[in-house]
Amino acid sequence: MKKINAGLVGITGYAGMELARLLAGHPHMRLSMACSRAEAGKRLGQFYPFLESLPGSDVVISVFDPKEAARLCDVVFLAVPAGTAMDMAYDLLQAGVKVVDFSADFRLRDSATYEEWYKIDHKQQALLPQAVYGLPELYAQDAARTSLIANPGCYPSSVILGLYAALKHRLILLDDIVVDAKSGTSGAGRKASVPTLFCEVSDTFRAYGLPRHRHTPEIEQEVSLLAGQPVCLSFNPHLVPMNRGILSTIYTRLANPAMTLEEVHDIFSHTWKDSQWVRILPQGALPETRFVRGSMFCDIGLVVDPRTGRLTILSAIDNLCRGAAGQALANANLMCGLPMQSGLEHLAPLA
Ligand SMILES: NC(=O)c1ccc[n+]([C@@H]2O[C@H](COP(=O)([O-])OP(=O)(O)OC[C@H]3O[C@@H](n4cnc5c(N)ncnc54)[C@H](OP(=O)(O)O)[C@@H]3O)[C@@H](O)[C@H]2O)c1
Repeated sequence: MKKINAGLVGITGYAGMELARLLAGHPHMRLSMACSRAEAGKRLGQFYPFLESLPGSDVVISVFDPKEAARLCDVVFLAVPAGTAMDMAYDLLQAGVKVVDFSADFRLRDSATYEEWYKIDHKQQALLPQAVYGLPELYAQDAARTSLIANPGCYPSSVILGLYAALKHRLILLDDIVVDAKSGTSGAGRKASVPTLFCEVSDTFRAYGLPRHRHTPEIEQEVSLLAGQPVCLSFNPHLVPMNRGILSTIYTRLANPAMTLEEVHDIFSHTWKDSQWVRILPQGALPETRFVRGSMFCDIGLVVDPRTGRLTILSAIDNLCRGAAGQALANANLMCGLPMQSGLEHLAPLA
């Protein structure tokens, strides 16, 4: 079988690094172009010693050029900051190249909402209708038919998957959802900045971005679509001193406060029984980031408190794999007609 040629813009970032790791083991896709402005000219195996002698290690890092991308690639991953991906996507699509965008440029269906929350003018609004929000559990069929994927944000992936069964089966009140999420520091990217220096993040624990973190409208958009009505919720992210992983603790109130954990658990388990990657943990078990590290799994634990009538949903994912590169690869697989799980079947390394 001929291999699909993949390009990756933003190879030096954390999300790009994770995708390079995944592509090196992909049975049907190979890295044929890797772009960065700062590291152009270096051989990939030289820049990333962990890739040396593996597929892709001989690719020489280059500055992004859409014409060269069209010559070399069937699909291009844009692992670059919001605001920089939209024009690249336009040029690539014009040249007939499929695009998976890691940034938020095409995630929000309403460009005014994007401009309000990101403070960036949307210059490619005409592309928004063809962009598919690439959460495979919700939109795999659409992903297989498009050329432009808006790869979901890391926090939104954990929250939307966590809430999906409760919304679908109308288990919870929609006016009282509070998301208390924690992320490892790779979620902030690899660029040097004082707030993510070792001494600023180790041995401390802090919230950030309250109450207007940019992932809020993305979560609300998808939760509202699932609920069939507008939903406004509280999203409160925190930074924890670990490299990677997200744990979202989602506080909700049961529509029927008499529901038992067993009943809720049955509904969640049934909803996700055919899912490859969403795992409903046994009653009483709570998820941990280390058990999903570097994988596509989303582990969900459930707590029902009869005293308060609350259903608390805990959702753990790996921000770089499920929350970025792995999900992007699943989407590219779908767009290219490959099995969704190609190159994504590994488990978390423990210890
Ligand atoms: N980190 C995560 O957990 C995560 C999760 C989900 C989604 N994302 C999204 O994925 C994207 C990349 O995130 P990251 O964490 O990997 O960021 P990062 O570590 O800061 O890396 C950003 C990459 O983009 C390149 N870049 C920056 N500005 C650019 C520009 N103006 N033109 C071209 N290339 C540019 C950088 O290389 P050069 O400066 O050398 O060109 C670098 O390779 C972002 O949109 C982010 O929101 C990240």
